[in-house]
Amino acid sequence: MSHFTKSAVYKPDALIAKDVNAYLKAHQKKLLLRFITCGSVDDGKSTLIGRLLFESKMLFEDHLKQLELDSKRTGTQGKNLDFALLLDGLEAEREQGITIDVAYRFFTTEKMKFIAADTPGHEQYTRNMITAASTAELAIILIDARKGVLTQTRRHSFLCKLIGINNFILAVNKMDLVKYSESTFKKIFSDYNEFAKKIGIKNITAIPVSGLLGDNITSPSINTTWYSGSTLMNRLENLVTPKKPKSKNGLKMPVQWVNRPNSNFRGFSGKIVDGSVKLGEKVRILPGGTLSEVSKIFVSDRKVEQAKTGESITLTFKDEVDCSRGQIITAADQPIEVADQFESKLIWMDEEDLVPGRSYYLKIGTQTVLATISTPKYQINVNTMEHMACKTLTLNTIGVANIIMDRPIAFTPYEKNKELGGFILIDKIRNSTAAAGLINFALRRSKNIHWQALDITRKDRANQKNQKARVIWLTGLSGSGKSTIANTLEQKLNNLGYHTFILDGDNVRHGLNKDLGFTEVDRIENIRRIGEVAKLMTDAGLVVITAFISPFKLEREMVRKMMEPNEFFEIYIDTPLAIAEKRDVKGLYAKARTGELKNFTGIDSPYEPPENPEIHIKSDQLSAVEAADLIVKKLFI
Ligand code: ADX
Repeated sequence: MSHFTKSAVYKPDALIAKDVNAYLKAHQKKLLLRFITCGSVDDGKSTLIGRLLFESKMLFEDHLKQLELDSKRTGTQGKNLDFALLLDGLEAEREQGITIDVAYRFFTTEKMKFIAADTPGHEQYTRNMITAASTAELAIILIDARKGVLTQTRRHSFLCKLIGINNFILAVNKMDLVKYSESTFKKIFSDYNEFAKKIGIKNITAIPVSGLLGDNITSPSINTTWYSGSTLMNRLENLVTPKKPKSKNGLKMPVQWVNRPNSNFRGFSGKIVDGSVKLGEKVRILPGGTLSEVSKIFVSDRKVEQAKTGESITLTFKDEVDCSRGQIITAADQPIEVADQFESKLIWMDEEDLVPGRSYYLKIGTQTVLATISTPKYQINVNTMEHMACKTLTLNTIGVANIIMDRPIAFTPYEKNKELGGFILIDKIRNSTAAAGLINFALRRSKNIHWQALDITRKDRANQKNQKARVIWLTGLSGSGKSTIANTLEQKLNNLGYHTFILDGDNVRHGLNKDLGFTEVDRIENIRRIGEVAKLMTDAGLVVITAFISPFKLEREMVRKMMEPNEFFEIYIDTPLAIAEKRDVKGLYAKARTGELKNFTGIDSPYEPPENPEIHIKSDQLSAVEAADLIVKKLFI
């Protein structure tokens, strides 16, 4: 995880204690710019940042002196300002030297406040860069004038653009070491431009600088008379203009929590991520689509008539509607998309590769859903922007894949809104962030295929057979006796009048799943399809018995979740490997031991035993008939 080093530079409390009203006033009005610096220590990044801090400190001191004079002039008590703390902080920051994961540095000039995120440039810190870039409005891409545009320059620029930064400063550093050569600067700028065009970066300012000597940092350098553009500080100070409220955009507010202090009040709190809201406005609550009307708006405890983007508010509605955490309140006439499938860019951040077909938690805004990722369509080569074929995504690679969720969510493409289109994937077992994702678009499929409501329900079909639909899921090693037990169980249930069906590994692999082998990905897909088939069969009202090794916990859980409560029963056919291997009915263990058969469960492919199966059968202690009897007794009588 990243450490966040908060700068000790700015101590508002210390300043407020001194009652520097003039200072405070001026400071409060200043705009804030968050930016990220990309480059490596070799490019002179630390020196450049040190220089920015140093110069801003000088600007700041000048500014304070001016304020002091002003306050004297206006008759306010002369304040002997104690800035020792501030200055100490700056020094400490500069001396810190080596950067850790992400260092956030705060500095300020007369005009502006800045937060600079400084992340290490190496590939293994992609995660940190993404974190820092996600809140930045500008990126300073640092280049060593002697080296020109490098792989990492391209990589950083691409990541920054991908995550939504649109303003770039190309700081061509160490100009002193190339004798302030205009042609060197121009060549680097044109090389960079060529690449930047490919990835859609439009707003670039290239500045020749020397972090070490201070050229073009705060004042134009006499060494680069051929350059007439802005200094670095000047460009930083002039980037942001006060944001105009985008009144045209409809309200978008993810519900963070439901506020219910007493039975008369039900408010929905969250931050407006786009648009604005007025009293009486008609709203739509997504993904469900319920309509209502805003009756009250609060900012903190204050009642207001309207609120806009960026404000955290609480809304109440005219009528009692269903609305909970994770849902999105939008203007009624400008809803956002709702779908359960979309295409997405993924920045893979996990040591463990993406497993297509496996389910991950997908956290988007305040909601978390289950999602499976298809085999990536391609991976992006960050040097050339080429699309390369791939089967998975590995640490620090970027690719594009389709994602299917277990239920529809409301979202916008990332390009339209970061908050509503950005998500993370979480590994379910290790509970760690596996990837950052950016939604491209909803898949037409999900938009155009609607669930067909049928008049005869699954319950009707089961009732007709005088039974309750069920899935009896047998899991265990190859040779544990699953098929034999399943067969005996089906006979017994038939005799009792149940309508049953068996899905058996070896059989299904001859037909529906004949395209699948035994790699992890194929086994996951095998179980996913069986789960879907079993689900259809329970819809038909049948008692389904399945006999698959189904070695992975996650997929067994996935199938359980697909069924209704109390419909899925996991039966662990527990046979020690040594015994299954000794039986070796099909001679497969022998082949696996000699290496003739690869990825064999229990030998060179794992089996994850169930932790809480509904029934645990030790098949070396019970015969198949006894095992089947036990299942009948526990689940059917
Ligand atoms: S699962 O892992 O995907 O659930 P499944 O139950 O469908 O496996 O198929 C297992 C059957 O395939 C075994 O009973 C065995 O007969 C056969 N088989 C062939 N190769 C393998 C292998 N590498 N690992 C396990 N079973 C294999």
